[in-house]
Amino acid sequence: MAPAVSPWWQTAVVYQVYIRSFADGNGDGVGDVAGLRTRLPYLARLGVDAIWINPWYPSPMADAGYDVSDYRDIEPAYGTLAEAQALIAEAHELGIRVLLDIVPNHTSDQHAWFRAALADEPGARQRYHFRAGRGPNGDAPPNNWQSVFGGPAWTRVADGQWYLHLFAPGQPDLNWDHDEVRAEFEHILAFWFDRGVDGFRIDVAHGLIKEAGLPDTADPDDAAQSLVQSRAGHPAWDQDGVHDVYRGWRAVAERYTPERIFIAEAWVPSNERLARYLRPDELHTAFQFDFLRAPWRAEVLRAVVDDAIAAAATVGAPPTWVLSNHDVTRTVTRFSRSQPAHLIETDWERGRWADEDPDHVIGRRRARAAALVQLALPGTAYVYQGEELALEEVEDLPDDVRQDPTWVQSGFTDVGRDGCRIPLPWTATDAPFGFGSESGSGTWLPQPAHWGEYSVEAQERDADSTLNLYRDALRVRPTLWRDAGDVKWLTTDADVAAFERGGAQCWVNTGEGPVPLPDTATVVLASAPGVGAVLPPDTAVWLRS
Ligand code: GLC
Repeated sequence: MAPAVSPWWQTAVVYQVYIRSFADGNGDGVGDVAGLRTRLPYLARLGVDAIWINPWYPSPMADAGYDVSDYRDIEPAYGTLAEAQALIAEAHELGIRVLLDIVPNHTSDQHAWFRAALADEPGARQRYHFRAGRGPNGDAPPNNWQSVFGGPAWTRVADGQWYLHLFAPGQPDLNWDHDEVRAEFEHILAFWFDRGVDGFRIDVAHGLIKEAGLPDTADPDDAAQSLVQSRAGHPAWDQDGVHDVYRGWRAVAERYTPERIFIAEAWVPSNERLARYLRPDELHTAFQFDFLRAPWRAEVLRAVVDDAIAAAATVGAPPTWVLSNHDVTRTVTRFSRSQPAHLIETDWERGRWADEDPDHVIGRRRARAAALVQLALPGTAYVYQGEELALEEVEDLPDDVRQDPTWVQSGFTDVGRDGCRIPLPWTATDAPFGFGSESGSGTWLPQPAHWGEYSVEAQERDADSTLNLYRDALRVRPTLWRDAGDVKWLTTDADVAAFERGGAQCWVNTGEGPVPLPDTATVVLASAPGVGAVLPPDTAVWLRS
């Protein structure tokens, strides 16, 4: 009997388009829908199954578009709704599905609802969390919660009330106990599903419901305030009531053919808690972030893989694999300094290794090897734009160009996430490397002068480039790995993660010496030269048994 073929979203490679930095169609130094449309053939050639586009809605950009002022339109700097619809159609013609990013935890402070709340229109404040302050004059925040970006999670308005924002002050949190909020988002989902969108990544999916009464958190200085470590027990995160919201969303998705899907961004303290979002009447998949927190150590990788697969299996969901995204240090740089023994605690605290110079040669070698591991595992793989070019984190941005609200809100102690959001280099010329016009005012974040070497144009010419490694891997992946079955580990060596699935094997060597390979197998693809009888350090290989 032929093996069962899984639905596309259970085995897909999804490419994350950070639209502001992907491709610039009008030469103003900011990425846009027109730029993305011209590069769809690039994505088709790369071999991805779907794209996930970071928020492209009208936004004052207090947090790079995660502050949405209108959920049913396109940010003018990115284009128009008509262009967005053309993009969806063109992507579909190329066999690429389109996932959007929905931001339900908060709106922009420029959203009509929040403006009405500020104007104190009847009932308008009830859609958000407005409270009186504490202390004799009410001039202390209503509780001790801290914003994920730093500083108190409350801002006071002119008439003395305070509103809650777990992120920037320009991102007021919605009150999800309000019926209108629930109904509105179900309509927004349908608005985009009607336009052919195949699904949504859900921003901060674990934050919508807050513990009733918004009680103080037990330890306000604890890292539990941070998003990445949203620990058990914090009254702002992962409350049981959130699951009702997603049952409603699933019902909306199920009205459509072909089926529409959801992927949760939920930073929760355990795989068991994550699995609750994936029950059959809730969301389809969720990011499993331990993979992007794993150091370059085979032992830890094995544990992370086992854990993620086991947790997903309990609810029949596919595991997901993410090496990086627009919120964390780029993979090349994460792997370019000495590696801790355990999962990296919080990647948003950049500069934690600032005392050690990065070795990008090693970082690139490891990132290439990690890609082969990621793409051999069962389930879905997410590729963040620029991973296929092995771009490094830009750690030396001048302070005056930084845009991430983290920089200001942390009192200029946390540089934030701009370094992984630099516009892509397309041509092997000088900056802006085909992004924006040569004569323009520059890209919205400056690119390193040496990025011509890592441009798409340069890598297309080089058979051994990372771009060509990804292209080869994605070409082979469907036959070698898709629907190939469970992971069976082949060794418990501390420096080697080697597994078999179906008739294929993936080996990675995170140690310092060469590792012997089985002599009966043939090499299908290797992340570095020199693979034969042995696997060199910081290298991965795909073998056919
Ligand atoms: C998510 C996004 C991040 C954003 C935050 C607030 O974590 O990935 O970029 O800043 O939510 O919306």
